[in-house]
Amino acid sequence: MTEQADQSYPPSTLMLTSKAADVRMAADMLHHARLIAFPTETVYGLGADATQAEAVAKLYAAKGRPHFNPLIAHCASLDAASKEGVLNADALMLAKHFWPGPLTLVVPVAASARSCDLARAGLSSIGLRVPDHPVALALLRACDVPIVAPSANRSGHISPTRAEHVWDDLHDRIDAILDGGPTSVGVESTIIACLENTPVLLRAGAITRAQIEQCLGHSISAADSLGDHDAPLAPGMLSSHYAPRTYIRLDARGVYTDEAVLDFGNQFPDALMRLDLSPRGDVVEAASHLYDYMRALDVKGAKMIAVAPIPHEGLGEAINDRLLRAAAPR
Ligand code: TXA
Ligand code: MG
Repeated sequence: MTEQADQSYPPSTLMLTSKAADVRMAADMLHHARLIAFPTETVYGLGADATQAEAVAKLYAAKGRPHFNPLIAHCASLDAASKEGVLNADALMLAKHFWPGPLTLVVPVAASARSCDLARAGLSSIGLRVPDHPVALALLRACDVPIVAPSANRSGHISPTRAEHVWDDLHDRIDAILDGGPTSVGVESTIIACLENTPVLLRAGAITRAQIEQCLGHSISAADSLGDHDAPLAPGMLSSHYAPRTYIRLDARGVYTDEAVLDFGNQFPDALMRLDLSPRGDVVEAASHLYDYMRALDVKGAKMIAVAPIPHEGLGEAINDRLLRAAAPR
């Protein structure tokens, strides 16, 4: 963030750094029911104190998010998370293996939970995650309450991987942004429901299905990815999501001159408006650039964004899931 850009921020949205004093100020603001965007290893989250219904209501309004879509409660540790939800044997195994990290567990809400009903959209289950990011963890420790944090974008838009993205989408609607630089992973956490006997994959994400299955020692089932609109399992997985303004054409085998190209593995080296998610064809690198490059191509004024085929293996599952939603009818 340049000094010049900083000066253009109105006093209503504070730009904060990741320094300890700023993190303490952010924690104090959260206690006062303010909305603070902060970095995690996946994407920037828009935080509110999960125990204050007033703060959570403001968060839904700022994002333009439907109230039926529950929020993930972020906690500083497995201990803190265990006060919010009841982790069965599978959930505990996954939590011990992957937390802190990009895994969200949906479990029955605990009797001791402090997070309010509105944060869970009235469900009897709760999404829990301990993020692996020094600024996020410092903030959560300083707050000492669970913090709900959806991705810090307006509902339906592309998720933010830089503080500037949050600013572009939400600057007139939130109280502060903690700038921790670009996020490392670039796609959201994997969501696993541990409600019944068999864990169910609700959202493909930063931890691959193979990693989850290896940890559990058995295979997991997946909720139908584009979902049943009347009763979606993860209510936020609406089919149109992560959508740029420009229309998207998936699995391109060739490109037209008036198209921008989201390339992978240097498949269209001659295209004029082109960004390559990973010239060497690495899905991990590609995930880290996905949202940033979608935003960059969106402002090129192209008729269409053509997307090169991306292998479905590993993080490719999450990348293809997001692209499918970005291309879905609106
Ligand atoms: O990586 C991430 O998970 C980011 C960072 C900020 O932590 N957060 C994020 O939050 O992606 P959001 O709100 O954009 O997506 C959360 C998803 C939604 O699809 C929501 O429906 C689902 O989690 N979810 C939350 N609680 C749930 C519950 N109790 N049952 C089913 N789905 C739930
Ligand atoms: Mg989101």
